[in-house]
Amino acid sequence: MTLNVIVLAAGEGKRMHSNTPKVLHSLAGRSLLAHVIATARELGADRIVVVHGHQGARVRAAFADQGDLVWVEQGELLGTGHAVQRAMPQVDPAADVLVLYGDVPLIGAASLRRLAQAASGGLAIMSAIAEDAANYGRIVRDAGGAIRRIVEARDATPAERAIREWYTGFLVAPAARLSAWLARVKDENAQKEYYLTDVVALAVADGVAVQAVQPARAWEVEGVNSRRELAALERVRQREIADALLERGVGLADPARIDVRGALACGRDVSIDVNCVFEGEVRLGERVRIGPNCVLRNVSVADDTEIHAFSLLEDAAVGARCRIGPYARLRPGAELAEEVHIGNFVEVKNSRLAPGAKANHLAYVGDSDVGRRVNIGAGVITCNYDGVNKHRTVIEDECFIGSDATLVAPLRIARGSYIGAGSTIAKDTPPGQLTVSRARQVSLPSWKPPKRKD
Ligand code: UD1
Ligand code: MG
Repeated sequence: MTLNVIVLAAGEGKRMHSNTPKVLHSLAGRSLLAHVIATARELGADRIVVVHGHQGARVRAAFADQGDLVWVEQGELLGTGHAVQRAMPQVDPAADVLVLYGDVPLIGAASLRRLAQAASGGLAIMSAIAEDAANYGRIVRDAGGAIRRIVEARDATPAERAIREWYTGFLVAPAARLSAWLARVKDENAQKEYYLTDVVALAVADGVAVQAVQPARAWEVEGVNSRRELAALERVRQREIADALLERGVGLADPARIDVRGALACGRDVSIDVNCVFEGEVRLGERVRIGPNCVLRNVSVADDTEIHAFSLLEDAAVGARCRIGPYARLRPGAELAEEVHIGNFVEVKNSRLAPGAKANHLAYVGDSDVGRRVNIGAGVITCNYDGVNKHRTVIEDECFIGSDATLVAPLRIARGSYIGAGSTIAKDTPPGQLTVSRARQVSLPSWKPPKRKD
């Protein structure tokens, strides 16, 4: 069966108090709408139609890389029924249609598969149970338990308001039938809106059986209307991710204190201390240890490497058996081979460090090629920028760069060079020699301390 998905995303999201359209707010590293679209793809949707309104151009631009999405503008927001009706011309008339909300991000593919199966040519709606269904639509059943209709909270009698089964907003129906029902929906209700929920009574009137399916987990159908609800769902999602990591054998000091905003892949016996953030694609090899309060964004770390507390790594590749941090910063293009040590307050940018290279304290290594077993002393700076252009520094194997040296690029420090502490090196050095550039130290035996005037 062909499946087409309609995602309703035209709402303004006033209660977010934000200039960003609600569906573009981020949860676990991607927008609410991106979660929903990913789930639609997971279901194998043949077509995904997104109904947008407020700031539609901005929403569309955020998905420019997904050229197969079909966008429909709903100018005036006349209700969920109107929104779906606007989308129907873009839907394959022979398909089953699944309606989702762009602001209900965590709905699971498994629950939706059950919904689609339950429809089987008729209408299936997803419902949930709550002590107080608040402003949600109530599912009205007859004495035999058969679904009769959905009544919106604002149109409900007190007895109907007491109904605990509420409509989540998701339904599946064959496109042709859905179109026919929508054509008959009227706006004669408390909100003067075209309610999608009215299709239930119309289906019943047509003698079509209406099935209700519940989500596997209650939070799957929770929507985002406020920052508070967004924050709550973020914790739900993060807990899910943490549990999945634990399940796969990753050691987490505290599953409530990790944030994964992308994809985190871990080898065996990885351990992660508290308050770490992983963004984009992060790959950790076997036995990698991450100390507390680290941030890793689009990074790969090979086996047996340890990242100590408070380190920030971004668009970098770290080899095996390295020691990074505490307080290290690896910026884009940092490529570290095995057994490299990067210590506290060392910044590495767009540089390759060969096996065994070390910069243990307070250094800046930018636009550099650093050879094997090079030792970069405390306070060393590669002066890579002349104010207009960036230049490279090459430090060949086995060099020793004394503390507080400044290396003015473009520059080549030849193999086995020894640079005296405090030197400013602006010319290439010969191999295997001590190069030092600083004023000679003098002491004056005739010197007398100044005397205080009366
Ligand atoms: C709707 C249902 C209600 C259900 C609830 C679940 C109707 C009439 N009511 O309530 O039974 O319990 O969802 O959350 O369907 N939207 C548009 N265009 C519109 C109106 C809404 O795209 O003209 C989108 C919104 O962006 C949102 C979704 O549809 O993603 C639901 O709209 P919302 O106003 O939140 O739901 P209600 O109508 O209050
Ligand atoms: Mg509404």
